[in-house]
Amino acid sequence: MYSNSLIELDRAHLVHPVASYRGHEQQGVRVLSSAKGATITDAQGRQLIDGFAGLWCVNAGYGHETIVEAAARQMRELPYATAYFGLGSESAIRLAAELAERAPGDLNHIYFTLGGSDAIDSTVRFIRYYWFARDQPQRDQFISMEQGYHGSSTVGAGLTALPNFHAGFGVPLDWQHKIPSPYPYRNPVGQDANAIIQASLAALRAKVEAIGANRVAAFYAEPIQGSGGVIVPPKGWMKAMRELCKELDILFVADEVITGFGRTGPLFACSEDEIVPDFITTAKGLTSGYVPMGAVFMADHVYQVIADGAGASAVGHGYTYSAHPVSAAVGLEVLKLYEGGLLENGIKAGARLMAGLESLRDHPLVGDVRGRGMLAAIELVVDKAAKTPLPAEAQPSRRIFDRAWENGLVVRAFANGVLGYAPPLCCTDTDIDAIIERTERTLDQTLEDPDVRRALKD
Ligand SMILES: Cc1ncc(COP(=O)(O)O)c(C=O)c1O
Repeated sequence: MYSNSLIELDRAHLVHPVASYRGHEQQGVRVLSSAKGATITDAQGRQLIDGFAGLWCVNAGYGHETIVEAAARQMRELPYATAYFGLGSESAIRLAAELAERAPGDLNHIYFTLGGSDAIDSTVRFIRYYWFARDQPQRDQFISMEQGYHGSSTVGAGLTALPNFHAGFGVPLDWQHKIPSPYPYRNPVGQDANAIIQASLAALRAKVEAIGANRVAAFYAEPIQGSGGVIVPPKGWMKAMRELCKELDILFVADEVITGFGRTGPLFACSEDEIVPDFITTAKGLTSGYVPMGAVFMADHVYQVIADGAGASAVGHGYTYSAHPVSAAVGLEVLKLYEGGLLENGIKAGARLMAGLESLRDHPLVGDVRGRGMLAAIELVVDKAAKTPLPAEAQPSRRIFDRAWENGLVVRAFANGVLGYAPPLCCTDTDIDAIIERTERTLDQTLEDPDVRRALKD
């Protein structure tokens, strides 16, 4: 009764992100009611392993009392403090310092946002300001990757390269350009790492040349393309792209909104990629999704140019909730948990996850297995040699998601038949084994679908 009335209220009033509004009205909401560790419970009492950590964000897992206590303590003492007018709060200052200490190289300056989209949006503003300060305001062109995702703000949605975020919204804007994704499984140059890297370098060079060498402001890349289908570039790809940007005098933004905070192993994927970008954007794992917060990491040399350029004037960029003390208190506690064992456990669990997914490689529907740490995917096909995707009528994003749900597993089911995994770092061996076993069951059931069978035979 309670649940049904919630479904009606949701249908009537709650606008869901990235949903078919009509489809959602028909389907109705699935209400989640509680969670602990890596397990969530819905309003019907069904327990599921959250193989996607909410939206690749609850890296620490659910139900950490110390996080709740840190938030409550901060709320009691000082629930809000603006960072405008030269004011500040202890938790935000300490979190900025702790993050700067751990960030690669000279990424010493932290601007806090509410999430990833406004972190990306902030970098666009900072980068424009930077080039104005360097007397090169004509550097107003931005390049990002096909299949990349950089959020859903008015500007960021155009750096994003996913069709749903463009159609009907009038983006990308004319200063937003793309180069092809490195996508090893489907790269026209094949799967050889060096060939893929060379192709991306050539594409970036060619794009910069086409736009005009002194027109390009920045290049954006995710260390692993998350929402594009968990696309893992070959080792050395980020480093090669970063070096080329240096050579071309283009700022390099590493979007670590998904990959940050243990998702691929270390706190920052960039450390493993051995690069120091000019900016890193983060969110999600920063507070493990317990409260909203994102952070822009700005390299010292960028900060100095902006600071000198502004002189005594204010740099006119700010949000009411930038450096929110409660979010910062949560961030500090989450960082303690990561370094108190969760990162280590995530590395162990990630190895088990990858081994488990690899064991499914021989399944008739599995075309590719890829990942790094606790960020992984399998790509389903009906013809392994031709890499033919599942037929559209199989509606992978709905049918496979629903089926996995019935089997007690939350996965990200992409429309093209990629299944994405990003479980909490706290997963036990039993949790990981359940993810694999429930995935296999889901694949076996999908294999019995008449439309999939037909496509397999063709
Ligand atoms: C790489 C990347 N950048 C930016 C964003 C946007 O973050 P948010 O949804 O917190 O606005 C996301 C969200 O998934 C992301 O994956």
